[in-house]
Amino acid sequence: MTATLTHAPDRLGPLTERLGAILTARGIDPEAATTQEPPSEPVTALELADARIPARYRRALGDHQQVTAWAQAIAAAGRPGPSGAPGIAEGPSLLIVGPTGTGKTHQAYGAIRTLLTAGVRLRWEAVTAADLYARLRPRSGHDAERDLQTLARCPLLLLDDLGAAKNSEWTEELTYRLINHRYEHMRPTLITTNLPTDALRTALGDRIASRLAEMTERVILNGPDRRRRSQN
Ligand SMILES: Nc1ncnc2c1ncn2[C@@H]1O[C@H](COP(=O)(O)OP(=O)(O)OP(=O)(O)O)[C@@H](O)[C@H]1O
Ligand SMILES: [Mg+2]
Repeated sequence: MTATLTHAPDRLGPLTERLGAILTARGIDPEAATTQEPPSEPVTALELADARIPARYRRALGDHQQVTAWAQAIAAAGRPGPSGAPGIAEGPSLLIVGPTGTGKTHQAYGAIRTLLTAGVRLRWEAVTAADLYARLRPRSGHDAERDLQTLARCPLLLLDDLGAAKNSEWTEELTYRLINHRYEHMRPTLITTNLPTDALRTALGDRIASRLAEMTERVILNGPDRRRRSQN
């Protein structure tokens, strides 16, 4: 074993010289080629999560006071997991309400990023209500029930644009089952909507609106449509 190690540099000497000569002949500085290694930084949970966050919200900050307070409360309530990092536990939810372009989705992804930055071990899912209904529409070869259970049981769910999609008895029942599961198990959920309270109740029905009223803290976003402002 040791013999191999002590002989290796002897054999590498001429090889290194030859390699150096080849690189020099091609106009490459052998010193630079051998010393400049790519930086190998550990991939953080935030970097991994960033890959799942839509590009537009990849740098979002959940800087609204209520959103920051919510993320801090969730992080503080986390139970330590096997690696020592806190995992997410039962906790309150947020209903982020406001007209289009006021930054609801931005705040929601910002909150997820805050938790990841704080080192909370986090399994999370994000879906718009419209995509949820499209995804769970019965079709052959697809287990919609399993998909629904995954979202219902996920430790943190972002349900974006609730009430924006066209409603039917089927969407209402599906939304009810999703919200009711999260309500019963007190799973932290970030919900965004354009609809004020009354309109949300009309769109979703009383059973869902009642549960949302109890399980969420309302965050009201006002102001101009940021999408139009950025064009000026
Ligand atoms: N606090 C913020 N700082 C910087 N940019 C922001 C902020 N909030 C929102 N934005 C930007 O403004 C635009 C609109 O934000 P966002 O998509 O979150 O709005 P929204 O309220 O979810 O709209 P909608 O109801 O139509 O879904 C996006 O480009 C977003 O990146
Ligand atoms: Mg949005």
